[in-house]
Amino acid sequence: MKILAINGGAQKSRNTATMLQSAFDGAVSQGGTGEIVHLYDLNYKGCVGCHACKLKGGASFGRCVQKDGLTEVLEKAIDADVLLLASPMYFNDVTGALRSFLERLFFPAITYNKERVPTYPHTIKAGWVFTMNAPGEFYDSFFKGLMNSSNWILGHSEYAIAYGTKQFEDYTKYEADMFDVPTVNQRHEEQFPKDCNEAYEMGKRLATNIDIGGNI
Ligand SMILES: Cc1cc2nc3c(=O)[nH]c(=O)nc-3n(C[C@H](O)[C@H](O)[C@H](O)COP(=O)(O)O)c2cc1C
Repeated sequence: MKILAINGGAQKSRNTATMLQSAFDGAVSQGGTGEIVHLYDLNYKGCVGCHACKLKGGASFGRCVQKDGLTEVLEKAIDADVLLLASPMYFNDVTGALRSFLERLFFPAITYNKERVPTYPHTIKAGWVFTMNAPGEFYDSFFKGLMNSSNWILGHSEYAIAYGTKQFEDYTKYEADMFDVPTVNQRHEEQFPKDCNEAYEMGKRLATNIDIGGNI
């Protein structure tokens, strides 16, 4: 069981990375091996729309032809049995870093043929982690849309979230008086560990149920 975890957040020890680590721990607890990749450590760009990945008989058919800091990671992702992907919500979306990664992972996997069968050799179970300031259901439709793409292109996909996250260590030092700080702190103390546990269970579930299905 090969596990690859992708941190699409810039920080390595805050909400998103902590929760991703839990998902990863859950997955490896089932005997798999893998690693956590921090996208912000890598130099790469998003899809450039060259279409080499769709060229009939092309040397790079079904793969991204761009060679940069993402090339090796994309190969590992395609080879993984369980792919964990994490991002804080930035302006109602995943971070630009994860977005660019997804363009390069998703686009080569699809053709414009009528029968829209993904090109990757096997299905990849995907566990997503999102953290955000916004309230719980705020991004439900966004997550649903992303899960539809993920189910189709990768395989069985699910997600875990932490909302109302603690953004600043000391809120008094920042222009941020819209927050009810005791509520945020309390949530961080009491709810965030539970959110991490949800992520752990998701990772464990994905790494356990090898027959969970794909491409629904
Ligand atoms: C540039 C930027 C944009 C953000 N945009 C949103 C947003 O659109 N919605 C939201 O709920 N939170 C937003 N946030 C808050 C973060 O998503 C939230 O604090 C998250 O848990 C941070 O993750 P981290 O602790 O791993 O950095 C934004 C934060 C930053 C720095």
